[in-house]
Amino acid sequence: MLTVQQILYDFKLPNSATAKLDLEILLAHTLQKPRSFLYAFGDYQLSKEEQDKWQQVFKRRKGGEPISYILETQDFWGISLKVNQHTLIPRPETELLVEKTLQLLANTTNSILELGTGSGAITLALASERPNWSILATDKFTQTLQIAKQNAANLKLQNVQFMLSDWFSDISITKKFNLIISNPPYIAVDDIHLEQLTFEPQTALIAADNGLADLRHIIRTAPDFLADEGYLLLEHGFNQAESVRNLFKQHKFINITTIEDLAGLERITLGQISRNN
Ligand SMILES: C[S@@+](CC[C@H](N)C(=O)[O-])C[C@H]1O[C@@H](n2cnc3c(N)ncnc32)[C@H](O)[C@@H]1O
Repeated sequence: MLTVQQILYDFKLPNSATAKLDLEILLAHTLQKPRSFLYAFGDYQLSKEEQDKWQQVFKRRKGGEPISYILETQDFWGISLKVNQHTLIPRPETELLVEKTLQLLANTTNSILELGTGSGAITLALASERPNWSILATDKFTQTLQIAKQNAANLKLQNVQFMLSDWFSDISITKKFNLIISNPPYIAVDDIHLEQLTFEPQTALIAADNGLADLRHIIRTAPDFLADEGYLLLEHGFNQAESVRNLFKQHKFINITTIEDLAGLERITLGQISRNN
């Protein structure tokens, strides 16, 4: 039977830049112990059951599967979220959308709509920060929405509702929101970066029309669902900012601003609706 020490020395993940850390995280997960256990008890011998589980976990990672899917969890905005093959793994840069929203709106009663919630990351971060906001989160896929609902229940957040909807299709036109937020699919179908994203749902990543189709639909339709002076905040690709700003202009948004992420890339554009235009 293998010991912890043998596994840490003998098993190799040649295609991972974080190979040593990956092994530690995955082995600790397999044994249901903290990582510190691995160094305190290097001569611990795995049981047959643990060894079988380890072989499966190791094979998945060696095949390129992201650690977050193997562990079925990802941290976002200090919250631990369940993720699986039906949800995108929330990215650190998306926290910028949360940060900006918290700056834009006062901490009073506000009504927010998130389109394409995935694991619920953005909505649940906002809900945890602002219990007096009411947030409606949508997704097009039942299995995706189920994960978001599970995450909301685990976090005991009451100020969130979920709805299955193809963008705005099932949202009542009588509803008006102070802010609409979305990180929609925006990668072009022939983008080479997709090669590194084969484990994530392609329906969460790819948009027609050079990646702009969903962004365009949301920008065009959002004004009907925004309250006066309401905001639209969108994440987009680093090379799409100018096109997105132009779309905001075409649809009569004002105060259009693009925000850079920590790497200096233009990743978020926002605008405000004005009925006086
Ligand atoms: C890039 S992911 C973002 C997920 C999550 N909001 C996040 O930031 O991690 C895009 C999400 O939009 C959803 N989606 C794709 N097409 C949609 C549509 N037509 N209507 C509603 N949601 C859609 C996908 O299922 C996916 O969950």
